[in-house]
Amino acid sequence: MLTGKRILLILSGGIAAFKCHDLIRRLRERGASVRCVMTPAATKFVTALSLQALSEDKVYSDLFSLTDESEMGHIELSREADLLVVAPASANILARMAQGLADDLATTVLLATDKAVLVAPAMNVRMWLHPATQANVETLRARGVAFIGPNEGAMACNEYGPGRMSEPLEIVAAIEAYFMGRLPASEPPSLISGPSVIRMAPETMGGAIAHRPLVGRRAIVTSGPTREAIDPVRYISNHSSGKQGHAIAGALAALGAEVTLVTGPVSVADPAGVKIVRVDSADDMLAACRAALPADIAICAAAVADWKVRNAAHGKLKKVPGAAPPALELVPNPDILATLSASGPQRPALVVGFAAETENVVANALAKRERKGCDWIVANDVSPATGTFGGDRNTVHLVTISGVEAWPTLAKDAVAEELARRVVRHFDKGGAAAAS
Ligand code: PMT
Repeated sequence: MLTGKRILLILSGGIAAFKCHDLIRRLRERGASVRCVMTPAATKFVTALSLQALSEDKVYSDLFSLTDESEMGHIELSREADLLVVAPASANILARMAQGLADDLATTVLLATDKAVLVAPAMNVRMWLHPATQANVETLRARGVAFIGPNEGAMACNEYGPGRMSEPLEIVAAIEAYFMGRLPASEPPSLISGPSVIRMAPETMGGAIAHRPLVGRRAIVTSGPTREAIDPVRYISNHSSGKQGHAIAGALAALGAEVTLVTGPVSVADPAGVKIVRVDSADDMLAACRAALPADIAICAAAVADWKVRNAAHGKLKKVPGAAPPALELVPNPDILATLSASGPQRPALVVGFAAETENVVANALAKRERKGCDWIVANDVSPATGTFGGDRNTVHLVTISGVEAWPTLAKDAVAEELARRVVRHFDKGGAAAAS
């Protein structure tokens, strides 16, 4: 399918450049010829010699080479190709392409070309998600540049997310699609179309923490369900077991924090080293949280009932044969998280809420963070199939002002430990509440 096609492969600097050996091999197997241009940075990762051996053609890198210019000028380099492929495309070369710079042979060729350009980005996930890079990508797409990838996965820099260069065979498929008249569809950059979500690999979680770094910090943690009385023997509640909230209280205490755990009725064991305040209703939970102020940290993991029964009966409601069942009038409960977030001078420096969602988890959590005025939201999917309520594991997104992280599925204890580590780092960085 690629027989006789001439590919000008432009390599910029990045560890993914090593994949170009395989890319050249695959293209040549399919009958294409490949000529390589390297940026100076690319020469730090792969050698011209290896590319030359695989492509069986001269490799170009010097804009000011008299010999090269006399043999093959930079204009001819692009004119003689059927397609230009930039792989790996670093954040730097994307920026230079978007700006129309021509400060080395690669960018000069790209500026001088009248041929189609296919770009395979490869960079650190945060560089890819940076608004500057996304704006450059958008500019290039608007000019007709096609993109393949980046893929999501573990990165050389020990992070996880979008930024890995597409695999050689994926790039080959995109090139074939181009020659069949189907250039790969440009997907809108994630940052522009919605919240950017950084996926955290299990191996990137954790990390060393100083011994008891939260000594001297006071924390309030809410946990478990609330019970809203209908009468002295009946109530409205939910399936929260307290496992997640209790684990958080224990994790903060293990790092030295002075923790008050305000908990609804649960049967899980009390975590070690925390002060426990047992409550039933949302009103009681709010009163207990207020009494525990001042605090540096508040983490609201309780599943607080949104409504209570107006005028709960003082005596047991009787079932009267033939009579209609009693009509319950519900009224809103106080919002403990919103109240703590707006508690003026007594506001904890870091207020963290949870969001229990069954659909649109991230979008709803982003809105909830704004609405409740807290600094972070830990969003979890509580659809029955997930088993989050009452189960031992949780899959969460951490939503802060700087973005959204998707954590892998972890034991609730591990979620708690990671969250406690984030709290430590937040205060290590000076506690710029909203920013981290
Ligand atoms: O207890 P487990 O079985 O381990 O399950 C854990 C959990 C699913 C209960 C927990 O991870 C969780 O998601 N807790 C929050 C449940 C909830 O009430 O979510 P929400 O989206 O309805 O509320 C948002 C936030 O506002 C929460 O921080 C909640 O504590 C708080 N809130 C809600 C209502 C209210 N009246 N006052 C509040 O403070």
